[in-house]
Amino acid sequence: MTALPADSLLESILKSSADLVVVLDARGNILDYKLTAPYLAEKFSGEFHYQRIGELLPMSKYPGGLEEFYQSGHILPFEFSLTTFDGQKFWFDGRLTCLSPSQQILFSRDITKYKQSELKMQQQLRRMTGLRSLDLAIASNLDLNLLLPLLLEQANSLLPADASTLLLMNSEANLLTLAASRGFHSNANPSVFLKLGAGYAGQVALERKRIHFSNLTGNAQGGDMPSYLRGEKFVSYIGLPLITKGRILGVLEVFHSSILNPDATWLEFLDILAGRGAIAIDNAILFENLQKSNAELGMAYDSTIEGWLRTLDFRDRETEGRTRRVADMTVQLALALGVAKEELIHIRRGAILHDIGKVAIPDDILLKPGPLTEDEWNIMRKHPAVAVELLTPISYLSPALDIPHWHHERWDGTGYPDNLKGEQIPFSARVFSIADVYDALTSERPYRNAWTKQKAIEYIKEQTGKLFDPGVVPEFLKLVHRNNFSMADWRS
Ligand code: C2E
Ligand code: SIN
Ligand code: SIN
Ligand code: SIN
Ligand code: FE
Repeated sequence: MTALPADSLLESILKSSADLVVVLDARGNILDYKLTAPYLAEKFSGEFHYQRIGELLPMSKYPGGLEEFYQSGHILPFEFSLTTFDGQKFWFDGRLTCLSPSQQILFSRDITKYKQSELKMQQQLRRMTGLRSLDLAIASNLDLNLLLPLLLEQANSLLPADASTLLLMNSEANLLTLAASRGFHSNANPSVFLKLGAGYAGQVALERKRIHFSNLTGNAQGGDMPSYLRGEKFVSYIGLPLITKGRILGVLEVFHSSILNPDATWLEFLDILAGRGAIAIDNAILFENLQKSNAELGMAYDSTIEGWLRTLDFRDRETEGRTRRVADMTVQLALALGVAKEELIHIRRGAILHDIGKVAIPDDILLKPGPLTEDEWNIMRKHPAVAVELLTPISYLSPALDIPHWHHERWDGTGYPDNLKGEQIPFSARVFSIADVYDALTSERPYRNAWTKQKAIEYIKEQTGKLFDPGVVPEFLKLVHRNNFSMADWRS
C-alpha cells in the first residue's frame, strides 16, 4: 500500500467531505476559500469574495465572541444560502469550527437539491392548506363580495403573484366587469367594463383559453391595457377563463412586475384557483336565481291569499282591513310571546285565512240576523274542517293550517272541531282565538250589535282559563292597553 503524499491526502479528504471550505477571520471576513466542486467553482468564479458569509454565521450563540466559541471547542452546524450574480440560489449545510481565537473554518456541502424539494413540499402544503380554507369559505358562503377577494388573496400569497383581478361576465350585456382586485398600487379601482374581445381579459373570455404574456414591455398588445394598469408597470400577465357547464362566468388575471416563467405546479395551482372561482360564482348565481324565483313565488302565494280574503270579506260584509288587523294583532302577540321570527309568516297566513271555510256556509246561515238553530250550528261548526280541506292540497300553506283548523278550540276542551284541551291546542291557535273573539265582539254582526271595547275586555278576562289560555291573556291585555284598546293602529 502506497501512502498518498500529505497534500494529496488532505485534498482528497477535503473533496469528499465538503463542496466549499472557507477560512474566516474573527469578524467573519473571508481569508481563504476553496470550491472543491467544479460546478460551484464555475458558478462562483471571481465573485466569491463579495459574498457576505460572515453575516450568515450563527455567532449570536456565543455572546463572548470568537474567544468563547474557541474555548467551547464546539462544532457549529447551520444552513445558509448563497446567490450567484445571475440570481441562482445555492443552499449549503455548513459546519463551523474555531481553529484559533482569530480564525474559523467553515466546511459546507451543497444541499440545494434537497432544499429545493423541501421548499417545494412546504409550498405545496401551504397551497393545499390555503385551498382548504378557500373551499370551506365557498361551501359555507354565497357572498361573492367576500369570496372573490379571498380567492385573490390566496392567489397572491400562494402562487405567489404580485397582483390579481377577477372580472365577472354579464352574459346579458356581454360585458366583463371588474369584481375584485388585489395588489394594485393605484388608489382607486376604477370600474372596468370590457366588451368581449376587448383588452386582455376580453380576449380570454372570447377565446375561452389561457393567455400568457411573459414580457409585456414592448409588447404591441400592451396598448390594450387600461391606463390604470399601465401605471402599475406589470411585466407579466396570465389570464384564465372561468367556465362551468360550458358557460363563461368570468376571467381570473394574474400580474407580475418581473418576467414570469411559471413552473408546472404554479400553473396547476392557478388552474385550481380558477376552478374554485368558477364554483363560487356558479353557486352564487344559482342561489340568486333561487332567491328571485322564491321571492316571485312568495309574491304569487300572498296575492292568492289576498284574493281569497277579498272574496270572503265581501260575503261576510266585513272589511278587508278587519281581517288584516286581526292578523297583525295575532302576529304582534305571537312575537311578544317569543315565537320565532320565521314562524310569523305562517301565523300571519293562517290568521288571514282562518275563516276561509265559511265559503261553504250558505248565506241564509252566515247572514242570519238571529241565533242559529241546532242544525244550522252543525253546519257552521264545519267551517274549520272545510278550511283544512281547502288548504291541505296547497303545500306552502301546510305550516299555516293550525289557526284555520283549531281557532274555535277552547282551553277547557269545550270547543270544536276536536274538543282539544289546554296545550293540546296548537299555540298559534290559542293566541289567535283571543284576537278573533275580541275582534268579533267589537264588530257589528247580523245577529247583534258591536260590543264596547271595555265590555269585550271584561269578557276575555272572565273567560280566562275557560275559553282562553291563561298564559296568553295577560300579554294580550298588555298589548290592548298599549294600543289604547284600538285595533286601528296595529299594523306591524
Ligand atoms: P264570528 O262572528 O267571527 O265570531 C267568532 C267568535 O267570536 C265566536 O265563535 C265566539 O266565540 C265569539 N263571539 C262572536 N259573537 C259573540 C257574541 O255575541 N257573544 C259571545 N259570547 N261570543 C261571541 P263561535 O261562537 O264558534 O261562532 C263562529 C261563527 O258562527 C261566528 O263567527 C259567526 O259567523 C257564526 N255565529 C255565531 N253565533 C251566531 C248567531 O247567533 N247568528 C248567526 N247568524 N251566526 C252566528
Ligand atoms: C383588467 O385587467 O382589469 C382589464 C385589463 C385588460 O385585460 O385589458
Ligand atoms: C292541520 O292543522 O289541519 C294539520 C296540520 C297540523 O298538524 O298543524
Ligand atoms: C309554537 O308552537 O310556539 C309555534 C306556534 C305554532 O304552533 O304555530
Ligand atoms: Fe271561525
